[in-house]
Amino acid sequence: MSAPTYKTETLIAEDIEAYLERHQHKGLLRFITCGSVDDGKSTLIGRLLYDSKMIFEDQLAALEADSKRVGTQGPEIDFALLVDGLAAEREQGITIDVAYRFFTTEKRKFIVADTPGHEQYTRNMVTGASTADLAIILIDARKGVLTQTRRHSYLAHLIGIRNFVLAVNKMDLVGYSQKVFDDIVADYRAFAASIGIAAFTAMPISAFKGDNITGPSVNTPWYKGKPLIEHLENVDVDGASDDSKPLRMAVQWVNRPNLDFRGFAGQIATGAARRGDAIRVLPSGKTSTLSRIVTMDGDLEQAVAGQSVTFCLADEIDCSRGDVIAAAAHSPEVADQFEATLVWMAEEPLAPGRAYWLKLAAQTASARVQAPKYAVNVNTMERLAAKTLDLNGIGVAELTTDKPIVFEPYAENRTLGGFILIDKITNATVGAGMLNFSLRRAQNVHWQALEVSREAHARLKNQKPMVLWFTGISGSGKSTIANLVEKKLSRMNRHTFLLDGDNIRHGLNKDLGFTDADRIENIRRVGEVAKLMADAGLIVVTAFISPFKAERDMVRAMLPEGEFCEIFIDTPLAQAEARDVKGLYKKARAGKLKNFTGIDSPYEPPTNAEVRIDTNAMTPESAADAIIAKLIP
Ligand code: ADX
Repeated sequence: MSAPTYKTETLIAEDIEAYLERHQHKGLLRFITCGSVDDGKSTLIGRLLYDSKMIFEDQLAALEADSKRVGTQGPEIDFALLVDGLAAEREQGITIDVAYRFFTTEKRKFIVADTPGHEQYTRNMVTGASTADLAIILIDARKGVLTQTRRHSYLAHLIGIRNFVLAVNKMDLVGYSQKVFDDIVADYRAFAASIGIAAFTAMPISAFKGDNITGPSVNTPWYKGKPLIEHLENVDVDGASDDSKPLRMAVQWVNRPNLDFRGFAGQIATGAARRGDAIRVLPSGKTSTLSRIVTMDGDLEQAVAGQSVTFCLADEIDCSRGDVIAAAAHSPEVADQFEATLVWMAEEPLAPGRAYWLKLAAQTASARVQAPKYAVNVNTMERLAAKTLDLNGIGVAELTTDKPIVFEPYAENRTLGGFILIDKITNATVGAGMLNFSLRRAQNVHWQALEVSREAHARLKNQKPMVLWFTGISGSGKSTIANLVEKKLSRMNRHTFLLDGDNIRHGLNKDLGFTDADRIENIRRVGEVAKLMADAGLIVVTAFISPFKAERDMVRAMLPEGEFCEIFIDTPLAQAEARDVKGLYKKARAGKLKNFTGIDSPYEPPTNAEVRIDTNAMTPESAADAIIAKLIP
């Protein structure tokens, strides 16, 4: 292919400001291309960039930075080189993320999310699709609908994309056969209907040759539809439908420059807002009216979905970051238990029962996900039994949050229904999800305020309630030292109670084993019991391996500052194993005991323990004395 030259619009050279201004006010379409390199994805993206007289985002930035350097002559770009460049970028591990490419035509601006096609990159596709309004499903005309086509369509639909283009590519290699095209479309239609894709636009193209990209191709006289770019320029994706929904805006921050002004800033997710409209702030449910709609360019009478605005209210009602301002007559739901569809994005599998940070719109809560009801095989859409979700796994599970969340089902509102999960220790985003609906049982259980407070209980006992949380591997000496501590405290007339792993597992927790999920649940229950006992005024001593930092931190967070004390019984594994009082290490080494801590199940040593006991340096007696001296007032 020869290297044609094109001139960037001369306007750029004349007046960069005017050019940028004009492009700023064009509509924006975000879309995703699905298909592998083999299907011609790089070629298609290259073709779109090339034929649309693309302006790369970095070029734009460069233009903005130095408008004087821009000549009348645009860059010379070779199509084949461009495609090679895109493909090479993909192959060099840059693949791991989503590449966003920017181009623009006279009518619209476009952002294409270019994601890798293989199953191990499901999470990347989900990331790319999460902000897209349209998906191009690319098919190789010689191969037809493949497993991968189905997976991509399922994921794109799951993530809320409602506009689909079925681009049957490489038509030049099948002699532009209408029959081949029609068969593929019929095949895809049957599949699409089965997963709930109501409509799609099919077109025969050759990304390589340029058929039906910018203009109608002479090679497909039988195709009466629009060429691809024209379709992308005209397809109606946003606005209309979102504007007709009731108003919802998540408050991103409270704007209070001085005492006379208090505004609530955010982006309108759905609906329209007019000055004087009645609104309701969620979750509090307080109502008021919009007194002003403020923007950078002055006040507005009306604002619509997609606009960033600051609302002022007629009344001084409480409203803070994370709250949702909604139409008074149609407010979204508030709940703390949900069914959700989850996409797992971390190497480390989902830990059912563990608390993660959940972020939804501007809201943050601590959330616990139960073991999945089922996982989905993304190639066949089959539902499979599952205990957890691995990297790229998709499943449906119930989750609970520690405080009420203002939400709408994802199918109705991507902003108020979509969330991410964040690991509390590493701060990594480990999952993305969609709320399907709230669980009714959440609404029928209420907190009962108690007449005799925890302070009153503690006063009667004349002591500060505490939880002395011993942690360490099996055979480290936790139980021995914990017992001594309790005995000594008892002699000091303190009211204590000892919860010991081996004992609790004979009763309350006898239904639990030693998988990660069971250990998490074990510690959750023990944490709740310890908290109740501390509420009753007791000094609680616990002796559990409690191998995971996340759950120890969770119990710490359940108690008032200073009442939870972590005591790390630090015994080297080799030593505990050499002693092997219960003979369990021997069994584990022989493979007769699975998931044994320190052998084939991890122990995460504390990093913020109040006390660390080096069992080589002191006797249990002196360890117990040291603990009491340090912790008991
Ligand atoms: S935890 O990991 O969930 O905190 P917990 O302290 O309740 O464990 O129970 C540990 C005790 O269970 C050990 O002291 C040991 O006697 C026994 N045990 C049986 N199987 C295992 C196992 N696979 N790993 C660790 N301890 C085990």
